[in-house]
Amino acid sequence: MADKPTKGLADVVAASTALSDIDGKAGRLFYRGYDIHDLAGRTTFEETAHLLQRGKLPTRAELAAYVDELHDGRALGVLVSHNLPEIASKQKPMEALRSLVSLAGADDPDKDSIAPDANLRKAARLTAQQPLLVAQYHAFRTGKDVPPEPDPSLSIAGNFLLQVTGRVPSQREAELFDTCLVLHADHTMNASTFAARVCAATLSDMHSAIVAAIGTLKGPLHGGANEQVMKTLESISPGNVAQAVREKLDAHEKIMGFGHRVYKTEDPRATHLRRMSAELAESTGDDTYYRMSKEMEEVVFESKGLYPNVDFYAASVYHYLGIPTDLFTPVFSISRMSGWTAHVIEQHADNRLIRPDSEYIGERDQKWKPIDER
Ligand code: ACO
Repeated sequence: MADKPTKGLADVVAASTALSDIDGKAGRLFYRGYDIHDLAGRTTFEETAHLLQRGKLPTRAELAAYVDELHDGRALGVLVSHNLPEIASKQKPMEALRSLVSLAGADDPDKDSIAPDANLRKAARLTAQQPLLVAQYHAFRTGKDVPPEPDPSLSIAGNFLLQVTGRVPSQREAELFDTCLVLHADHTMNASTFAARVCAATLSDMHSAIVAAIGTLKGPLHGGANEQVMKTLESISPGNVAQAVREKLDAHEKIMGFGHRVYKTEDPRATHLRRMSAELAESTGDDTYYRMSKEMEEVVFESKGLYPNVDFYAASVYHYLGIPTDLFTPVFSISRMSGWTAHVIEQHADNRLIRPDSEYIGERDQKWKPIDER
């Protein structure tokens, strides 16, 4: 065993997985051996979730059966529905999702089982319910009580846009958002997935592991960065991007949406998201945030040699699609639910408790004294 810890477990191989793989030097990402560049824009989120949770890209018949299961699994349970209005009035979006998924665990018919077949059913239900939880939460907090009825002809991506914006998305908007979901679906041993696996490895249940993952994704160094990127763009005047970014760097502030623990070159997901941001800037006739993002990217690279990560261009893409800024991280959770649940399935299938050691850096040989003598 190593005597010294690696701060932040950098470069430590913490688990084996057949789900995703990253080549950080070459900037490549694979889901079950498929290059993300082959999947993005050609494979739907539903197919990707099937690939991750059920081990293969589905045939048409398998996809139809899986989509039926997602439709059936969408119904929210009694505890969730009963508590949603109060949660929506008191909790911020990621806090609310943490609470709601916990309640959904109590509502789930398979709640007491971690058997493989129960885990597959729960993974489908969690994937189906997450977009609905976000949409229903948003409806309550905006005084509408119910979001528009989902349209059975639309995908998860299309229905989410419909339910959150109140407008039927164009086919292209639904396709672009679907690609966003594909790009965020899984990413090796990122912090939230690791949290989910640590929880699952105690033989705790899938909903508990997902609650741990949601709490972990929420932080600004992880999934919370996409919301912070949008706030940064909104706080800077379009004519002052370079100076504002340099001032932040001079003040040793981190620029959200840049840098990555594993990628030493461009994050391949950012390549797609940049292109999507450019397309939406053109189709919406407002390229302000795209232009600002490009300029920020140039300045951060010149000053620090850092590349944008997945969160950077996701911010302007979601903004152009009409998604409220504080739902950006919940959107990440909708997609990553497919990966988290697949990791829980994988962990339970070949489990050993995850229990690393620590380096003790406190005092030694302390002399105990009774309380009145301290
Ligand atoms: N802006 C400015 N400087 C940065 C940034 C940034 N975004 N990222 C890293 N650096 C600098 C650090 O200040 C540090 O410099 P120093 O050595 O002079 O102190 C050096 O680069 C290394 O940074 P660490 O934070 O130690 O790198 P680590 O691998 O631990 O962190 C992380 C990776 C957390 C993603 C980091 O780059 C960061 O905080 N980025 C901003 C937040 C963000 O975008 N998070 C989303 C990541 S993607 C995801 O989770 C989905």
